Amino acid sequence: MSVADDVLESAALLSARDVMKYFGDDRRPVLEHVSIELREGEFVALLGPSGSGKSTLLRILAGLMEPSGGDVLVHGSPLVGPNPNVAIVFQSFALFPWLDVLQNVELGLLAMNVPEEERRSRATRAIDLIGLDGFEEAFPKELSGGMKQRVGFARALVVQPEVLFMDEPFSALDVLTAENLRTELQDLWLAKTMPTKAVVMVTHNIDEAVSLADRILVFGANPGHIRVELKGLSPADRSAKSAARARLVELIYRIMTNPDDDAPAIVEQSIQGRTRPIASVRGAKSTAATRARRYQVLPDVSIDDLTGLVQYIGGIGGHAAVQDLSRDLQMRADDLLAIIEATDLLGFGALQERQVVLTPIGSRFADSETDEEKAIFRAQALDHIALLHHIVRDLTAAPTHTLDAEEVIDELEHSFSGEEARRQFETAVDWGRYAELFTYDDSSGELTLDEEHRPAR
Ligand SMILES: Nc1ncnc2c1ncn2[C@@H]1O[C@H](COP(=O)(O)OP(=O)(O)OP(=O)(O)O)[C@@H](O)[C@H]1O
Ligand SMILES: [Mg+2]
Repeated sequence: MSVADDVLESAALLSARDVMKYFGDDRRPVLEHVSIELREGEFVALLGPSGSGKSTLLRILAGLMEPSGGDVLVHGSPLVGPNPNVAIVFQSFALFPWLDVLQNVELGLLAMNVPEEERRSRATRAIDLIGLDGFEEAFPKELSGGMKQRVGFARALVVQPEVLFMDEPFSALDVLTAENLRTELQDLWLAKTMPTKAVVMVTHNIDEAVSLADRILVFGANPGHIRVELKGLSPADRSAKSAARARLVELIYRIMTNPDDDAPAIVEQSIQGRTRPIASVRGAKSTAATRARRYQVLPDVSIDDLTGLVQYIGGIGGHAAVQDLSRDLQMRADDLLAIIEATDLLGFGALQERQVVLTPIGSRFADSETDEEKAIFRAQALDHIALLHHIVRDLTAAPTHTLDAEEVIDELEHSFSGEEARRQFETAVDWGRYAELFTYDDSSGELTLDEEHRPAR
């Protein structure tokens, strides 16, 4: 280790080096080669799909679980047993129902052998700090979700932890309560009212991460690892309307919705201002990507999801924020973005900043009865989707107005890998059948032009 490394090492409050984690006999690691360094003054957010090991990493850093490989260092020394410098706030509050608020908060100090009087005065101060004044004698069942989580925060802060961990602390709360508590927490943190020197927060909420964090680590799954580290915004740029904020949110969406792509490459593209459509970023790692692509990538979206989303947005005024849709429809961001991409391809809607806005034709589609709906879809599909246009053109030209599916797939393989070509074909068939452009017989693998579209003889 060089002198410079030595200095850096001593500056870290807490670090993990090359941490691995296996559970039981499972040969697939839950965490693979994870390294992270936590420094004084920083707020770090962990984002990533379910199962990518974010909670496991927090437990390992808190000393509640041993890594299977690698080291955890506290101020440069190996961690043994529970980490006394860390307190955790959990999503589930984890309060004891038979203890009142004061007792629940004091609990954090019991393990530290703090004398009773000091326990009481410190707990009372933590309760004041977090806005629970007057609720000392209330029991958890008498409290709203937001108040329960305040108890969770007070219990963590009462030990004056050097490092505060929060594992999705706001996700069990309704939106307004979460926003309120988040703002208060941020104020406490920025005012340095708490003795805490660093915060690590796991969240599924990109906006939350961007609002709070100085550094954002995006995790990937299977095995869990850090895909990329992003610098957070300057305080001035964190306001809701800044362009820098919109760009960062968009970039994180792009990274998270392309889980198989090289995240640093996506960041690089974004820095160079090459705003390519999401679809082509997604296809970028395929070996076929270097070949000339004749077709756009159709997102793997069923016609039901597609029409359902356009109708839903039509029903609530023709526009909606992606985040609200994700919340209200209980959909994962990546699934939702695939559908939005499909509405964009078809000309039904566009993503503007973080809003989906229906086009006039999209609004008409949303308001129509089945027959007109199909007619609109048919026209848009033929105009906008090259693959459907080409299939219909070939069917029209063929003497029997039929085509063998394998021929179409073979042609697609000039543009896509084998598996992807098949998936593209299946999506096109789903959309084309709905539009009544053609029929498809699964058993014979034959596409047949719809009667109505046959040229007059
Ligand atoms: N005690 C355990 N025993 C066995 N497997 C576990 C244990 N704890 C976690 N896992 C597995 O480890 C993987 C990572 O889990 P973890 O809870 O850390 O993910 P996460 O990123 O926090 O996910 P989420 O976003 O859903 O909270 C999952 O596949 C999970 O099933
Ligand atoms: Mg978790």
